[in-house]
Amino acid sequence: MNNDNEKKQPTVLSLFGKSFVVGLSPMDDITDLPFRELCKTMGADLLITEFIASEALNRDAEKSLRKMVFTPAQRPLGIQVFGANEDELLRCLDVVAQREPDFIDINWGCPVRKVAGRGAGSGILQDIPKMLRVTASLVRHSALPVTVKTRLAYSGDTMPITDFCEALQDCGIAALSIHGRTKTQMYSGEADWTMIGEVKNNPRMTIPILGNGDITSAEVAVECRRRYGVDGILIGRGAIGNPWIFEQCRRAFEGLAPRDVSVQERVEVCRRHLLASVDFKGERTAVFEMRKHYGNYFKGLYGFKPFRLALVGAPTLAETLTVLDRIGEHYTQ
Ligand SMILES: Cc1cc2nc3c(=O)[nH]c(=O)nc-3n(C[C@H](O)[C@H](O)[C@H](O)COP(=O)(O)O)c2cc1C
Repeated sequence: MNNDNEKKQPTVLSLFGKSFVVGLSPMDDITDLPFRELCKTMGADLLITEFIASEALNRDAEKSLRKMVFTPAQRPLGIQVFGANEDELLRCLDVVAQREPDFIDINWGCPVRKVAGRGAGSGILQDIPKMLRVTASLVRHSALPVTVKTRLAYSGDTMPITDFCEALQDCGIAALSIHGRTKTQMYSGEADWTMIGEVKNNPRMTIPILGNGDITSAEVAVECRRRYGVDGILIGRGAIGNPWIFEQCRRAFEGLAPRDVSVQERVEVCRRHLLASVDFKGERTAVFEMRKHYGNYFKGLYGFKPFRLALVGAPTLAETLTVLDRIGEHYTQ
């Protein structure tokens, strides 16, 4: 029998439906609906939207509202929001809840100046008491489970993450994702997974911990799971132009060898991604925004440069598709 007074401790299984999750890490201007859909079909267990400004949601900004759109097939899915102002964050809870995602993810990790410089994202790591106060308040007022994504610290000499993660858990969050870098590192150096492992292996921590940073292959994913015992991983840059990484991870966890992905298949999936983007945002925007994906789809192909230039220079869908056909033909000869 359900007892409303008894708050069940979330598990990675109860939250995300798997005993270990391989999720797509949220990326601004990358993890939009079409790309998430693609990653899901390739085996991603968990999806999170791009980060969305709470203040923009509260003033009904069309572009931000559109970032919350998802299909039922994309569940379990989290909508990620950011902001520095507690009232704005609280007000956007209802706007997000109306979309009925599986959870709301709070971004306490973004290092870019226009976000962190205003005290949002990883900027809040300079004021841990505020982070805890706002998180607790969001959990209290949210109809949805609240999760947090953060970094190790603001800089090397600030409060160790193991302390503030316990406090975040005490705020009542359902799960925690940790990118193994500090704010001041931005994206430089290597992600420090030992600190992520310390959080996970702290006996006081009971909520699911998802590790993140520099997972670029299924082998690295297997190693991070084995060494650090996390409940799941989030893959960001390693999935750009490479949604197959989710399938490869699944194979590796089942002890299977990686599958070779042919150039033909790369062309096919890239075409699907492009067409789905055109459907979602219209030809002009989609053709333009897809340009940042091509280099990764065809990474490492000998003599690819002229094709890359043709792809990023093609002004219409028809011309882009023609270049994709030419790539397919050229590399199967
Ligand atoms: C282009 C780009 C955009 C990003 N946007 C977001 C975002 O909107 N929200 C977020 O929590 N993290 C964002 N991140 C951080 C990633 O989710 C991830 O934490 C980071 O890239 C480290 O993981 P990786 O090494 O697997 O890429 C972004 C990263 C990149 C490269």
